[in-house]
Amino acid sequence: MGTHVHSQPMDLDWPPRALLSPLGEYERWAPVYDLFYYDVGDDVAFYLDRAAAALPAGGAVLELGSGTGRLAEHLLRAGHTVVGCDASASMLARADSRLARFGDRWQAAHVDVRELRLPQRFELAVAPYGMVAHLLTDADRLAAFRAVHDHLAPGGQFVFDDRPAWLADPADSGVWQVVKTVTDPDTGLLVRQTTNFMGVADGPYTVKYDAVDWLDGDRVTRREMMRVVFRDIALADELALLRAAGFDQIEALGGFDGRPFDFDDPSRAARLILCCRRGHG
Ligand SMILES: C[S@@+](CC[C@H](N)C(=O)[O-])C[C@H]1O[C@@H](n2cnc3c(N)ncnc32)[C@H](O)[C@@H]1O
Repeated sequence: MGTHVHSQPMDLDWPPRALLSPLGEYERWAPVYDLFYYDVGDDVAFYLDRAAAALPAGGAVLELGSGTGRLAEHLLRAGHTVVGCDASASMLARADSRLARFGDRWQAAHVDVRELRLPQRFELAVAPYGMVAHLLTDADRLAAFRAVHDHLAPGGQFVFDDRPAWLADPADSGVWQVVKTVTDPDTGLLVRQTTNFMGVADGPYTVKYDAVDWLDGDRVTRREMMRVVFRDIALADELALLRAAGFDQIEALGGFDGRPFDFDDPSRAARLILCCRRGHG
């Protein structure tokens, strides 16, 4: 955890249950999410390989928290069917318009993953780009893990990645840093993302603040402030919750290059990737 901490009470919507709801934040992120994140690609080859290995041609992937369809687009281009679920209607709407060209191979479900109830069963479910870090309490995670387990066919896999602060404390922890400046195609203005990560003083949470500024020269013409909270769950707790949800075979990887996770030296890992299998029983 970084040296800068966010002490309570700082905001009117503290304590956590109100602050820690990410869903409202993603409604606000939706209009600008793609400007900053759509070209993230370090996980793409990894998830494509997992899908190719797990699925027959055209087989269906369940994606939890599919957002604006960043990874889904790659999976669809590779010929898979994707059922994307997300609790943010605005994020899903963006995915829908972008992915409509894939016809019924793209299927969107507007649902909280903790309450997922779909008729299909899947050989592969994924939760990319740290989606599980939004499941802030043990009860949230267990509900989501149980729901995924229930949606897997016997022998099916659930693969997700995370980067809790104990693994890789954000380099700019506690400091505001300009992360990216891009051109907004709608207005032609430059849009700048300035980010600050802070640990919460007495809980395993990281708060990510973003200032999104539309610039006319040096002048800020509009500013949106965003805040998302991540849970920095301990690995032992994560594994216990997965087992409680019914996953009996769990493999831990330390990066998208497929290196095993070194339990004796977690600092060798770039990511925590958990590959969990539903038993045949
Ligand atoms: C970091 S974005 C990832 C989007 C996409 N998977 C990607 O890789 O670019 C996380 C997404 O998870 C969604 N999300 C967070 N908590 C959720 C929940 N409990 N149920 C469904 N979706 C959730 C958010 O609305 C957001 O779209």
